[in-house]
Amino acid sequence: MTHVVTEACIRCRYTDCVDVCPTDAFRGGRNMLVIHPDDCIDCAVCVPECPVDAIFFDADVPSTQRRFIPINAELSEDWPVITRSVAALPDADDWATVGDKAGELDRRAPDPKTTP
Ligand code: F3S
Repeated sequence: MTHVVTEACIRCRYTDCVDVCPTDAFRGGRNMLVIHPDDCIDCAVCVPECPVDAIFFDADVPSTQRRFIPINAELSEDWPVITRSVAALPDADDWATVGDKAGELDRRAPDPKTTP
């Protein structure tokens, strides 16, 4: 079992979740974070930290978001560990209320010179 970051994170990436994770389970992408399922211990302390309610226990992921379970597993193998919060993306507040933004996910590994 694991926790999963879902669509709401995309283009927001507030990163409040990172600072409370006891196992450094988050991985940072260009416009989203994911959780490595092997590192997550299901403590759930990150859940209330997210301003856009993007994080769910995998068994509780809404049906419209279940595709993010394999996305977290896949991308967490490619993206680097992130252990401290960084500034949210510049237009995060504008994207926070956008409901359909899965197509905005940038799967590329971050440029190490710029993010996160
Ligand atoms: Fe994303 Fe929420 Fe963390 S927007 S980076 S899951 S605080």
